[in-house]
Amino acid sequence: MGNLTGKKVLLGVTGGIAAYKACELLRRLQDAGASVRVAMTPSATDFVGPMTFAALSGFPVFIASKTYSPQSAFQHIDYPRWADVLVVAPASANSLARFAHGLADEPVSQCVLASLVPKVLVPAMNFAMYQSAPVQRNLDVLRADGFHIVEPTAGRLACGEEGQGRFPEIAQIISTIQSALEPKANGKTILVTAGRTEEPIDPVRMITNRSSGKTGVAIAQAFRDAGFRVILVQGPMDQVAPDGCEVISVSSALQMHAAVLSRQQECDGIIFCAAVADYRPKVVASEKIKDSRSQLLLELEPNPSILADCAKLRKPSQLLIGFALETENPLKHGIQKLAKTGADFLVVNTPVKAASGFGLDVVEYAILSPSHNLGNAPALALGSKTALAGELVQKVRNALGIQAVGPCQ
Ligand SMILES: Cc1cc2nc3c(=O)[nH]c(=O)nc-3n(C[C@H](O)[C@H](O)[C@H](O)COP(=O)(O)O)c2cc1C
Repeated sequence: MGNLTGKKVLLGVTGGIAAYKACELLRRLQDAGASVRVAMTPSATDFVGPMTFAALSGFPVFIASKTYSPQSAFQHIDYPRWADVLVVAPASANSLARFAHGLADEPVSQCVLASLVPKVLVPAMNFAMYQSAPVQRNLDVLRADGFHIVEPTAGRLACGEEGQGRFPEIAQIISTIQSALEPKANGKTILVTAGRTEEPIDPVRMITNRSSGKTGVAIAQAFRDAGFRVILVQGPMDQVAPDGCEVISVSSALQMHAAVLSRQQECDGIIFCAAVADYRPKVVASEKIKDSRSQLLLELEPNPSILADCAKLRKPSQLLIGFALETENPLKHGIQKLAKTGADFLVVNTPVKAASGFGLDVVEYAILSPSHNLGNAPALALGSKTALAGELVQKVRNALGIQAVGPCQ
């Protein structure tokens, strides 16, 4: 039934009589190849015990609890960030009202609000509740907000009455999830640079840096999922390029410079995430430099700035987003670099904190725009690389005037 191989589904269960059907849905999602985690409203736990969902999913269930869970202090962020899609099934009338009004007073609505991925709602309730003006109004709001709604089916209801309100066929829910996950092309092209560069010294040695490529890959993936055509110009990195992106592999800063400039004119935006060497050896020895045990001086010359050169050639309305890794005074230096390069945004980040930086899933960053100065710039904060990617998607969408087809598709 359907193909969700490798997809991560966050299943929100709310308090309705169809909550037990969410157990079957979870199983069928797994059969389709998905990994599933569950969040429950307090009311849902009156219908089905969280232990059932924990056993079926193989993951702790996110429930409202005053007991601190050492597995994750930020489950309301970590669970939606982990997921490729969020499905609330069944979605009670009460929870629909919460989602439509942005309330976040229990786990499922917290996940909904914090989610940056497509969201599918499966309302199920008594027919009169379903037809009621407030529920229909809330559904209209949710549709306009980009939620995918699977309509309940008509028939005999748990309460004994007849009408539209039944939990739909699982095949229909899975097919809606699949279509919600399909990238919707928006006709815009984004070029992302990722990874590091390698500047040869001789045939076996080089100057490089510690960039893993994780941030660039997360960004390429997020833009691809948001319907952009993505060109990924990647230097050497420890990550696998995401499917569905056009990949151009380069090694040195000069190669990356040439690759980016050769594709610049077809792009609506360029994100300069790669850690490009500022300098390269002036002379590359044709043979391995011999070990003479005496002092060796390496003369370096500057590489061209890819961002600065793109800024000179930018076409109207083309967005340029720079990155600056700073180890001291990050905001001051970020603001200076933004002004110097003429970028539209600059992601300033620092590897200083032990928990963030190279090769990790989190980074300490702030996104600066030209209106920022030291008085009003946002402070650097720790966030996941996927969250940073999601923020950039939103900023680019806003700047290019692209309507979201889903909450963050
Ligand atoms: C036995 C029983 C069955 C219920 N079934 C539904 C239902 O199918 N759909 C619904 O929207 N509400 C149903 N409700 C009402 C919800 O449980 C109630 O609105 C609750 O506050 C929902 O909380 P939640 O949205 O936080 O999960 C039912 C209530 C009871 C007592």
